[in-house]
Amino acid sequence: MISYKDLGLVNSRELFSKAMKGGYAIPAFNFNNMEQMQAIIGACVETKSPVILQVSSGARKYANQTLLRYMAQGAVEYAKELGCAIPIVLHLDHGDSFELCKNCIEFGFSSVMIDGSHLPYEENIALTRRVVEYAHQHDVTVEGELGVLAGVEDNVKAEHHTYTQPKEVEDFVKRTGVDSLAISIGTSHGAYKFKPGQKPEIRLDILAEIEKRIPGFPIVLHGSSSVPQDIVAEINNFGGKLKDSIGIPEDQLRKAARSAVCKINIDSDGRLAMTAAIRRVLVEKPEEFDPRKYLGPARDKLKELYKHKIVYVLGSENKA
Ligand code: G3H
Ligand code: 13P
Ligand code: ZN
Repeated sequence: MISYKDLGLVNSRELFSKAMKGGYAIPAFNFNNMEQMQAIIGACVETKSPVILQVSSGARKYANQTLLRYMAQGAVEYAKELGCAIPIVLHLDHGDSFELCKNCIEFGFSSVMIDGSHLPYEENIALTRRVVEYAHQHDVTVEGELGVLAGVEDNVKAEHHTYTQPKEVEDFVKRTGVDSLAISIGTSHGAYKFKPGQKPEIRLDILAEIEKRIPGFPIVLHGSSSVPQDIVAEINNFGGKLKDSIGIPEDQLRKAARSAVCKINIDSDGRLAMTAAIRRVLVEKPEEFDPRKYLGPARDKLKELYKHKIVYVLGSENKA
């Protein structure tokens, strides 16, 4: 058993409590490789923002869980070397079983998500409660989820959103003992969140209703990429074929971050930024074949994107 505390990581409890009082949200950025990690830590150190490093099951499969954990441990030292020991959480994104959550906790994660959102209500409660009981013995924080986001989540495809029902949240939070709650209010994973002609809008009214039922309780928003249209255009100008990709408007996320939303998950925008930079180099300098020559610019673009998110969307600048 490796305790996250020995690795210099923190759980999310105090970060969320400060974010709630301060009217901002903590960035939760996914990573799968070194360049993403460097961009995240570079951006957060330069803006003095706390950060949640997210590892999905897919990331564990792609990069190897041991390497990812050592990278997170390295991130703590890297941040110090860059000049600011920002608080860093290592979080399991979309954990789908008790065993996976337990394994991550024993491996040094400081926070886990148990995503029972596709299960019947009582089964979601039972599974989440079981993870919480284990996690809290190790002072690890737990995120649960109520409501189903449209799109693909945990290999389960949902055609439509099933919005979180405000009348369920109080019971769920009380009976599971979770530390934060992911909700479904119209965000979704990936780069195609709305159909052309649809108004890109999230249900801030449901969020307000949820907040009324569980005042001061940390809320999490998944699927919160904004799919910047200049980046999509850059991808397409350099040979990409992204059609009708639409994200969540940043001003709506900023409003959510000012409320009880304490954690905002962003992955797809980072993928788009890296892809745009790589495509540009490969088209403009076709003679290049050193990966550093295209991964370097991809890392720079990613860092700029994250700094923008921290300052203009999450509001977590200078909160480290
Ligand atoms: O919620 C999904 C995250 O963007 C992680 O995606 O499962 O492809 O690693 P992934
Ligand atoms: P996006 O696909 O909108 O970036 O959402 C990421 C996410 O929710 C990770 O859990
Ligand atoms: Zn998610």
